[in-house]
Amino acid sequence: MTDTARTKATISRLGHQGDGVADGPLFAPRTLPGEVVSGIANGSRLTHIRIETPSEHRVQPPCRHYKACGGCQLQHASDAFVAEWKTDVVRNALSAQGLETDFRPIHTSPPRSRRRATLSVRRTKKGAMAGFYGQASDVITEIPDCQLLEPELLAAIPVAEALALAGASRKTPLAVTVTTSDAGLDMLVRNGKPLDGPLRIGLAQLAEKHRIARLTWDDEPVAMEQPPVQPFGPALVCPPPGAFLQATREGEAALLAAVLEIIKDAKRVVDLFAGCGTFSLPIAQTAEVHAVEGERDMVKALDAGWRAGKGLKKISTEARDLFRNPLLPEDLNPFGAVFDAAVIDPPRAGAEAQVAQLTKARTPLIAYVSCNPVSFARDAKTLVSAGYDLNWVQVVDQFRWSAHTELAARFTLKD
Ligand SMILES: C[S@@+](CC[C@H](N)C(=O)[O-])C[C@H]1O[C@@H](n2cnc3c(N)ncnc32)[C@H](O)[C@@H]1O
Repeated sequence: MTDTARTKATISRLGHQGDGVADGPLFAPRTLPGEVVSGIANGSRLTHIRIETPSEHRVQPPCRHYKACGGCQLQHASDAFVAEWKTDVVRNALSAQGLETDFRPIHTSPPRSRRRATLSVRRTKKGAMAGFYGQASDVITEIPDCQLLEPELLAAIPVAEALALAGASRKTPLAVTVTTSDAGLDMLVRNGKPLDGPLRIGLAQLAEKHRIARLTWDDEPVAMEQPPVQPFGPALVCPPPGAFLQATREGEAALLAAVLEIIKDAKRVVDLFAGCGTFSLPIAQTAEVHAVEGERDMVKALDAGWRAGKGLKKISTEARDLFRNPLLPEDLNPFGAVFDAAVIDPPRAGAEAQVAQLTKARTPLIAYVSCNPVSFARDAKTLVSAGYDLNWVQVVDQFRWSAHTELAARFTLKD
């Protein structure tokens, strides 16, 4: 290919997927602001990229799989650059809503700390292979030296391959979601062959051989050697297969520390989008909690963890769709007094309907945990317009080397 066929561009910023963006817009994956790059323009995407002038923030990617693997997007950038960029993503989302606040120093989870991942696993002529898909590709990359996953999760790769040999079709790769727990691996397999008697027996034998704590095949439990419990404060919870958990223990601890600091003087707390009790159970060491969550099985797991826990104050639970049926001011008042504080940790869409009701209930203190700065900023605007102060934001990066950004924020109702 001649150099004249190549387009030259200067990267001005990163887009929300972490790709470099030049005028056009022209998206150039794995480039950094200020870099001069060249490549083949394919619509709005630059391919076959060569870095002509590197950024001072460019570093040697720490993982040898980075070039081929699509699991990480930002290993070519220094930690300091990523920290500032993620903080700016939140700052800019707030500023687009006319808001500003104090930012605490970002908390970034260390390498090799991801406790949950979905591996793609396919049968090959020689056996089976497991890994992540490559960048924008359907080719699976093997990742034996992945720098992202906990060592226990990496050790699940040969187990996932054994599951594929036993129960994957030749055509469709398995999607194996693996979560580590103190009791062993919790594995949920999708896209496998339909379960019949021999497959069920074979899978149960594999679970025993590899000491899989729990194995679920599509939605069917196949083996439970040990309940794969997770500790939330002093309680142990056995989440439903594939249920939401914070991505790293360190990220969970950072979010929890922020939440506990915010609600520390509260006596009655409502935990909205409570999951399996990541926040409710630790909070119940000092306050009564009403935990509300859309997934009934998660509510059951939370309740069972609370019942078996020791030294916890009362947790009441409710399975409820908080988008369609948010708690109303009268629901937020079940003890004859308004809840002292609310914790709210919605999915990416945010919590537009529920936040509107919190403003009507005048809940005095709100700990907002978010995985989407844009929906967070929209909801923050609603709260601030209704008379709340946004006191501070703690950015938490538990999706290291990706473009995801999470945060916890404190809102207080002005007198
Ligand atoms: C980001 S997770 C947080 C869970 C929990 N706070 C934690 O830290 O583990 C969001 C939770 O919202 C729940 N959810 C999603 N849509 C919902 C809805 N419409 N109503 C109620 N809960 C919902 C999900 O099941 C999930 O447990």
